[in-house]
Amino acid sequence: MAKDFYGELQLGILGGGQLGRMLIQEAINFNVTIHILDPDKHAPCRDLCNRFVQGALDDFDTVYAFGKGLDMITIEIEKVNVDALEKLEEEGVMVYPQSRIIRLIQDKGLQKQFFKQNDIPTAPFQLISSKESLNNASIPLPYIQKLRRDGYDGRGVKKIISEADIEDAFEAPSLIEQWIDFDKELAIIVSRNDDGDVATFPCVEMEFNPEANLVEFLISPSTLPFEIQQRAELLAKKIAEDLQIVGLLAVELFLTKDGQLLVNELAPRPHNSGHQSIEGNFTSQFAQHLRAIFNLPPGNTATRSNAVMVNLLGEAGHDGLARYEGIEEILAMEGVYLHLYGKKFTKPFRKMGHVCVINEDREAAISTARKVQQTLRVIT
Ligand SMILES: Nc1ncnc2c1ncn2[C@@H]1O[C@H](COP(=O)(O)OP(=O)(O)O)[C@@H](O)[C@H]1O
Ligand SMILES: [Mg+2]
Repeated sequence: MAKDFYGELQLGILGGGQLGRMLIQEAINFNVTIHILDPDKHAPCRDLCNRFVQGALDDFDTVYAFGKGLDMITIEIEKVNVDALEKLEEEGVMVYPQSRIIRLIQDKGLQKQFFKQNDIPTAPFQLISSKESLNNASIPLPYIQKLRRDGYDGRGVKKIISEADIEDAFEAPSLIEQWIDFDKELAIIVSRNDDGDVATFPCVEMEFNPEANLVEFLISPSTLPFEIQQRAELLAKKIAEDLQIVGLLAVELFLTKDGQLLVNELAPRPHNSGHQSIEGNFTSQFAQHLRAIFNLPPGNTATRSNAVMVNLLGEAGHDGLARYEGIEEILAMEGVYLHLYGKKFTKPFRKMGHVCVINEDREAAISTARKVQQTLRVIT
């Protein structure tokens, strides 16, 4: 695409949540005009864009009408109407990531088949059409069942330990996957532009909240052996190239106890595991996504410092207008950066914001992050 669009480009973002919000913070520096589509009239981007359209992301007519006349569309969520994007693409709107990639990634079954076809290491799996077929599954127990579509933040996954659990299994198109007793979960973010420039961010380590199945704690950079990090980077680059994606791609990986890297899943957009890049790296994931979709050279992804990211989740038992406790205390701590997402209402485990802790000393960053976790609360 032409690189002389500054000030003229009409950029549409499907989804106006926190990812869109942080993308807008960077997009301002490129002089682009921002249009947002989101079903929620209180969406975090609502008052931060040039044009806000309230409407369903999965409705053909809504997405098509929103995109018609824009120069470029990107996404902050995969659950969007791909047929409309495909039509807009045919009519000359630049859609990044491309509609065919969103279609593939929307369906975990197609993702797994793509991994298999391209020799990308992943846990053995089987596609499942009904609960009954679990009785003669080819994957031995225990395994994990995943809905093919619309699962996120652990909401579409179920561990099946014994035959008794099959009764409670999902009755929907799904896949089952070998249970991986992994050592660590890693994420690596890669970007690719239309010229084919590919760049990866350093690996990060994730810690999950077992109750909510959300990334709760993230440490950058990873202290894993260089060789493992290098393998993860090569794998992420290979996937970006196999897909020929334009934009950012987050690759979630398992590191097994015997040192294998298995790809868990992909997200073709900025990702929760890259939030620390805002303060922790020379280029943030949001800036990198924009560079990629604008066909600009990738920025320097190196870390500036150790960074620990803590998700700020709505407190259990609190549902309603959000209030924040502990902000003064945490901002008195060294190297603490607060990001609130502008969500009016809280509910248990809702992502309400995040905090990034920066410190030259990794252990100090981790210990401050733990203090932040104990101090900062979202209540009603
Ligand atoms: N094959 C597996 N073995 C063990 N744990 C898994 C497996 N697949 C997923 N998980 C766990 O469940 C989490 C959510 O699964 P994932 O497929 O990433 O779904 P989501 O779309 O909800 O992020 C993973 O981050 C991981 O902790
Ligand atoms: Mg995941």
